[in-house]
Amino acid sequence: MKALVLQGIKEPLKLEEVSKPTLNTGEVLVKIKAAAFNRRDYWIQQGKYAGLKFPITLGSDGCGVVAEVYDDANQHWIGKEVVINPSFNWGDAPNYQGKDFKILGLPDDGTFAAYVKVPLAQVYEKPKYLNDIEAAAFPLAGLTAYRALFTKAQLKKDEKVLIVGVGGGVATFALLWAVYAGAEVYVTSGSDDKIAKAIGLGAKGGVNYKSPSYDADLQALADGFDVIIDSAIGEGFAKHLNHVKPGARLVFFGATAGDLPPLNARIIFWKQLQIMGTTMGTAQEFEDMLQFMTKHEIKPVVESVFPCEDAEQAMRLMDQSDQFGKIVITFED
Ligand SMILES: NC(=O)c1ccc[n+]([C@@H]2O[C@H](COP(=O)([O-])OP(=O)(O)OC[C@H]3O[C@@H](n4cnc5c(N)ncnc54)[C@H](OP(=O)(O)O)[C@@H]3O)[C@@H](O)[C@H]2O)c1
Repeated sequence: MKALVLQGIKEPLKLEEVSKPTLNTGEVLVKIKAAAFNRRDYWIQQGKYAGLKFPITLGSDGCGVVAEVYDDANQHWIGKEVVINPSFNWGDAPNYQGKDFKILGLPDDGTFAAYVKVPLAQVYEKPKYLNDIEAAAFPLAGLTAYRALFTKAQLKKDEKVLIVGVGGGVATFALLWAVYAGAEVYVTSGSDDKIAKAIGLGAKGGVNYKSPSYDADLQALADGFDVIIDSAIGEGFAKHLNHVKPGARLVFFGATAGDLPPLNARIIFWKQLQIMGTTMGTAQEFEDMLQFMTKHEIKPVVESVFPCEDAEQAMRLMDQSDQFGKIVITFED
């Protein structure tokens, strides 16, 4: 079968012929129709991810059809259109993942291949209102945004939420989830064009974080946030403390722009702020997200779609951070 194999750090994604995975008990083989990129795939290619090993087939997100099932009792899954939850072995504590937790696409071979094998417990029937490309786009980023907003920040209807760097994959889901949850959503971006796109998706307004008048503009726009979702961090995070209301929740799950800067402790304790880290999500959160998005028929934002032969070009697009939403690759029959 064809697979996009990464042979080492900074090597290009190349389509290679590899052997089809063989199943063990509890596993299914999914014939991939579409798979989506996450920043994680980029970090692994750059050598900036824990637990690197090569060769590896990347890819955490995928949508396809169940082609084989190991256990006789589950043969009725064959032919079903499915999406894969890439959050494996969460463990027993909903508050944090256990020691066996892993994400599809390292250490195990992922979805950037004609076929991927996964435990049956990780597959869910594809929401019918989504096409293959849209269905491939949401699992990892959607789940991360869902837990950040609802489990961690406990976002409520009519609260004001700021989504930082809205062009990012997870950020666009945070925008969509928050809009459909009835929150008042604001965004930041390094691009005015992306702010306009976010407004088109239901944001009330946005401010360019590169603008010299950023602080004054943000203050004038919203006059304080209840929740901030930030996956960039870096120097800009310190400014958030001036833009939140007392009791605000600030949640982060990435550090694309760098580590946390020095923070004013007095503002944190006086405003009774909660600053929280989060990662991926539980199986229950994945199911809750599926229900939430299906109820509202929310469609992921897809920036571009490439054939699998052009996967390296797709990776370079992610490198430039010009995207608004998800980058998807397709695998033909
Ligand atoms: N812990 C987890 O479970 C988990 C899960 C998913 C992702 N992540 C991490 O979260 C981060 C985002 O992931 P992703 O896949 O959504 O990435 P992405 O699509 O590559 O997001 C990139 C976006 O980050 C924004 N950005 C970059 N520098 C910024 C800055 N200085 N200030 C504000 N925004 C900035 C940009 O938004 P604009 O273009 O709008 O300026 C850019 O488009 C990554 O670091 C990733 O590794 C963690």
